[in-house]
Amino acid sequence: MPSVRLCTLDQAPQPGSCRHFDLPDGIGCALFNVGGELFALQNNCPHMDSPIEDAAIERGVLTCPWHGWQFNLRTGISLMSDHIRIPSYAVRIENNHVIVDLP
Ligand code: FES
Repeated sequence: MPSVRLCTLDQAPQPGSCRHFDLPDGIGCALFNVGGELFALQNNCPHMDSPIEDAAIERGVLTCPWHGWQFNLRTGISLMSDHIRIPSYAVRIENNHVIVDLP
């Protein structure tokens, strides 16, 4: 499984915020910090491919800022249908770096 080093821990978003990173092949990654826990998802909503980095997060649910579609923050799966999903990436901290595992 390929991994990508996103940033150092001190460059990660602060709690309650999100930061965009570019992954290989031009894929955008939105790294959310929710209460000190980091979550990484592809930075594209499956509805109209718009960025989700300004999404509201509440009780583990990500609400797209564009038209309100909602997703499980941890899995990226839509609350409307299991068939709709934002790709999500496992996040780990290694040697003071934030690393995501790509599928
Ligand atoms: S682009 Fe996300 S709900 Fe429309």
